[in-house]
Amino acid sequence: MGFINAADGGLIILLMNDPPKACQNEASGPDFSDQNQVKLKNPLIGEEFPDEAYAHIAATLKEQQNFDLNSYKAVNMKRRLAAYLRSGNCQDPLQYSTELTGNSEEQKQLIAALGVQVSQFFRNPSTFMVLEKRILPELLRVSRRQNSKLRIWSVGCAHGEEPYSVALLLKKIQQKEDLVAILGTDLSHEALKRAKSGYYPADRLKDVPADVLQQYFTGHPHLYQIKAEIRHLVQFFRHDIISEEAFYRADLILCRNLLIYFAREKQQQVLELLARALSPGGYLVLGRAETLAPDCRNLFHCVDPAERIYRRTVDL
Ligand SMILES: C[S@@+](CC[C@H](N)C(=O)[O-])C[C@H]1O[C@@H](n2cnc3c(N)ncnc32)[C@H](O)[C@@H]1O
Repeated sequence: MGFINAADGGLIILLMNDPPKACQNEASGPDFSDQNQVKLKNPLIGEEFPDEAYAHIAATLKEQQNFDLNSYKAVNMKRRLAAYLRSGNCQDPLQYSTELTGNSEEQKQLIAALGVQVSQFFRNPSTFMVLEKRILPELLRVSRRQNSKLRIWSVGCAHGEEPYSVALLLKKIQQKEDLVAILGTDLSHEALKRAKSGYYPADRLKDVPADVLQQYFTGHPHLYQIKAEIRHLVQFFRHDIISEEAFYRADLILCRNLLIYFAREKQQQVLELLARALSPGGYLVLGRAETLAPDCRNLFHCVDPAERIYRRTVDL
């Protein structure tokens, strides 16, 4: 992932992850396209990704990067692994898994490639409508009454579209920035770098109202940058919601389109962590395709089923 100069002189963000370095050519690592390498008879597809190679990769990433591949749904991860190896013309997963051991740079690149950083500003606009009209005004009233800051946490924030969308809403409904703290966290260093830079291709902004685009973004037509006055409202940190405890106490947590990638028991573990991180009565917003794991229904009650908005039970 990086920036290149487009022919028209503008900047375009490459949205593809780099292919596996270990598979590119001898200049950058072993060449898996060598005639002598074992070739799979058929193109590698996710469901056929060999269990042995998968287990080896999982063990390496856990030991050497503290990344828990086994927390994710294996079927999705195998599909992404297969695509990643295909992109580097790498046809021997077992050999790749062996080469991966001890290659820290490749391990980091693989972890970045396994993440799905698809997002956009005001994704599912009706959810942001409910936040703007109901949830944020209520939370702001409470924090003013208590003379405390309103604290918001976007978990798995990708390139920052989600926390910046919240910052734009807050700009619209109240002007006093010092009353609000917004945090965006993600597993991917690369995604966070992009988030901090604030550059976005036009398709990530299609739900941004024209007046907001005009007022808070610069550049066009291919690449926009969100202005510093909004960038300064969000702090970004690298955080793994699976293997690290929450370090933040929030009144509103957005954790959208992340749980779906986790195995069922991990979903529950993450929801328990989010409940601990929320202040009593704080709100949790999940993605449209996500629901509370059955064992977590005592931690939250649902306030808007369509928008997947829940409220932390006051007594835990
Ligand atoms: C599909 S994006 C969701 C972005 C945004 N929340 C939205 O709904 O548009 C999922 C994000 O979760 C991040 N992610 C994956 N595993 C994670 C983990 N264990 N801890 C924190 N973030 C993680 C990925 O890097 C990716 O940026």
